[in-house]
Amino acid sequence: MIPEAFIQELLYRIDLVALIDGHVPLKKTGANFAACCPFHSEKSPSFTVSPSKQFYHCFGCGAHGNAIGFLMEYSGIGFVDAIKELAGGVGMQMPDDQEHAPQHGPKLQALSEIMAQAAKFYYDQLKCSPKAVTYLKQRGVSGEIARRFGLGYAPDGGHALGAAFNDYGSPELQVAGLVIKHEQGRLYDRFRDRVMFPIVNHKGEVIAFGGRVLGQGEPKYLNSPETPLFEKGREVFGLPQARAAIRQSNAVIVVEGYLDVVALSQHGLGNVVATLGTATTVMHVQKLLRQAERIVFCFDGDSAGRKAAWRALENSLDALTEQKSIAFAFLPDGDDPDSFVRKHGGEAFQRMIIEATPLSDFLLRELSARCDLASAEGRARLVADAKPLLGRLQPPLLRLQLVKRLAQTSGFSQAEVERLCDLKATFRPAPARAPRQAPSLLRPLLRLLLQKPQLAPRLPLDLLPDSSTEARAVRLLCETIAAGGQEELAYPALIERLRGNECEHILRTAAAELMHQPFAEEGIDAEFEGAVRQLLEVDHKRAFAVLQEKVQKLGVSGLSAEEKRQYLAALGSRGLPSAAREA
Ligand code: UTP
Ligand code: MN
Repeated sequence: MIPEAFIQELLYRIDLVALIDGHVPLKKTGANFAACCPFHSEKSPSFTVSPSKQFYHCFGCGAHGNAIGFLMEYSGIGFVDAIKELAGGVGMQMPDDQEHAPQHGPKLQALSEIMAQAAKFYYDQLKCSPKAVTYLKQRGVSGEIARRFGLGYAPDGGHALGAAFNDYGSPELQVAGLVIKHEQGRLYDRFRDRVMFPIVNHKGEVIAFGGRVLGQGEPKYLNSPETPLFEKGREVFGLPQARAAIRQSNAVIVVEGYLDVVALSQHGLGNVVATLGTATTVMHVQKLLRQAERIVFCFDGDSAGRKAAWRALENSLDALTEQKSIAFAFLPDGDDPDSFVRKHGGEAFQRMIIEATPLSDFLLRELSARCDLASAEGRARLVADAKPLLGRLQPPLLRLQLVKRLAQTSGFSQAEVERLCDLKATFRPAPARAPRQAPSLLRPLLRLLLQKPQLAPRLPLDLLPDSSTEARAVRLLCETIAAGGQEELAYPALIERLRGNECEHILRTAAAELMHQPFAEEGIDAEFEGAVRQLLEVDHKRAFAVLQEKVQKLGVSGLSAEEKRQYLAALGSRGLPSAAREA
């Protein structure tokens, strides 16, 4: 749990206009800013950002929210990750997670220091090992590039790390995956006589190693086991070294091997990372799409490469948005990026990347290859196979493109493909809108309370009807305001506290409406008094209706003395509905 106060301070410090402008260039329009909506496709801007309210709203698709919501939706990340990213941007330290801090906090720190120390040791050892230096030279790796990637050498012998660590027996070395305990209790180095590739996380900390044998041997690469620092499916090799080039080119090339990254860098291609001997995961794709608009996966041209590419495609579908593109480059059979670039040079490789097959082409090509398109059954199967994949694809325009091409290939009409794939929603804007509710007395009240939360204590809550969601929203808002005590009552913070609640949507809508038509400051109290008066009137009417029903059943003599007094007062009062006066 992230403490409420932290989130509020974060929202207070963030400049939403600057945040959004960093992703979607904004134009000033009066008091607000506008742009074409990043969450649905449009030609004229209906996406607006209010600097005073620190809120965004799109009239086209209904998307709205604060800085946290924007980042979640835009980057496709979770609540906690969004907060982490925002906090990092304004230099706020995430509060310690109460549950995890005691066990993991100091341990991670210690492990990270151990890994740094080991990396330094291996790095220094490389200079002392002529055969390792020769091996790297022979593979075309210059000293400069070896330094850039912090390459090292793990000496043979079995206890080389004893020279780097005073306490070789420390269990932490085993947790870090550097030392292995034999069944009989003997300890020895995991990495022996190998060229070492340090894997560095986004903070620049060494979290794992890959070690290659010099020449032939099994296994060719030995990797660190998963440790508290290192989760394979999350990390890639070469990211810190690639960061600047990724930013500059707005693209990232993903290859399979450590040496591919190194060799491409040697040939001037800096925006390259490698997965770590695992298939590309959704986490990889999400992580990389946060850094660049385009990912090009580079795989071998053989059937294993095609298979790996298909898995990467499957794991990319959920992460794709309209602004992002994913493509696949297939190397000639028998080559990997390292051998290709050494044979043909950096420019030829670059050309191959530019000409890479777009995800949609690859998807159609693969699916078509699996069915016999000459037969009706085969064409039906094509659509059936495409259905689960299309369903996961979010960007409506890309989906439409695919539907059209599926229609061409399968011989079904576009409408038929859409129906068969349950895709009626191809052109529906991304975030679904709740059906509009008839405006009621409670809507303006919600807006009044959002604009001026100080009014909340003056609202008699027992006047609210029990049944409607709007009434529950008003009640919840008042309770939240009351619980906030003396704290800042800015409404992005209020909305944040109500995230996930059944009333969240109503409150967000009210906030969005308010953003475009705020109440005039000088008239807001009178407006509020008017709303309360109306509530009172409705309440009177309701009470009167109850009494009247009793009278019709039991006669006036059936009422208690108090009820009789109320009934007569209501009859005599002005502003009652005609039916009441006739009674
Ligand atoms: P490759 O077998 O294609 O090796 O494995 P490579 O990258 O071309 O290496 P060189 O050129 O022969 O030196 C691709 C990647 O798969 C992982 C490594 O991450 C490697 O870079 N791998 C491969 C392992 O983890 N263990 C292995 O035994 C082999
Ligand atoms: Mn290779």
